Amino acid sequence: MVSKVYQWLAKALVNNKSFKGFFEPLVQVFFPFWTVDAYRAKLIKIRDENKEVYSLVLKVSKYWKGFEAGQYVEISVEKNGAYMSRIFSISSAPGLYTKSGVIELTIRKQQQGCITPWLYNTLKKGQIINISAAKGHFIVNNLNRSLLLIAGGSGITPFRSIISEALRSRQAIDIHLLYYTHGIDHLFVGELQQQVEKCQGLSVSFVNSSQSGRICLAHLQQYCSDFKNRVSYICGPTGMIQATKQLLLGSNVAEEDIRYEYFGPAPVVNLDIKTSGTIVFKQSCIEVESTSKKTHSLLEIAESAGLSPTTGCRMGICHQCICQKQQGIVYNTLTKVFSDTGSEEVQICISVPVGNVTINL
Ligand code: FES
Repeated sequence: MVSKVYQWLAKALVNNKSFKGFFEPLVQVFFPFWTVDAYRAKLIKIRDENKEVYSLVLKVSKYWKGFEAGQYVEISVEKNGAYMSRIFSISSAPGLYTKSGVIELTIRKQQQGCITPWLYNTLKKGQIINISAAKGHFIVNNLNRSLLLIAGGSGITPFRSIISEALRSRQAIDIHLLYYTHGIDHLFVGELQQQVEKCQGLSVSFVNSSQSGRICLAHLQQYCSDFKNRVSYICGPTGMIQATKQLLLGSNVAEEDIRYEYFGPAPVVNLDIKTSGTIVFKQSCIEVESTSKKTHSLLEIAESAGLSPTTGCRMGICHQCICQKQQGIVYNTLTKVFSDTGSEEVQICISVPVGNVTINL
């Protein structure tokens, strides 16, 4: 009822279904990273997990709405006068947040990255950063089913949260974690081993892919012989997710029993349509002939032409890459919808040109 009144009032006053929908774009003209969903969080400490990985331990504003194990947040910080945002999984359990108002984000320092090493080197204890509401659907909603969690590298982070929360629920669980890294730099080894000792229903296989190779059917049979009967959750690099999904589908695991979350941009699916054409980057006076058989996003095409558009998540979430398309059709790989030919704003990281496209970049 309250929300109906709110919607009616919003519609009557600003001709929009919500005040957020009306005011947010206006305020963002002056403060691009302001959103009504932004909350404040104070850095309690930075904890080293190993040489390349650290965790931000954050005390979140009391107005923050909490999260479910497996979700992520977007954090935004000001760097050299420009706001930047990135998305990170929450690696701690909701139970810790409920008890203490604290969440942990576990982050790999990307060698070439401009944010992840910078956060580590610059953030100071007590500093305030902006975080979004928790987002994402990589959530376990039925612990009655046996689970196979397959992690690659930093893909362990949502699983740390999921496992800790499952143990906290005191429900009878049956979870196997199959955890790949190149080398022996697995994260949270001590913590996971302690959890295995405490809980019969939890087992973990640490796999060194430099020695044992990438995930394959033999691994699934060796480490989790009943994998076909489990709901599988996969999180890691794009190639690993795609390979694992194919392995599971090829073993007759039902598609609805395979859940996954990309740690980076989702792959652009090759479309059964004509994607070649001329892409005109108007402001830069650059024209690119897109003739390759593989489908590329407008962002990839721009970068390969030497442009450096503003980006954040590169996966359709943060909206930092929005540009004005002046004409032409693009395919949105997230919503799976084709645009029409006219002028409109598009997220170039998830937009694939279909024929000739002119973009104001
Ligand atoms: S870079 Fe985040 S939506 Fe495109």
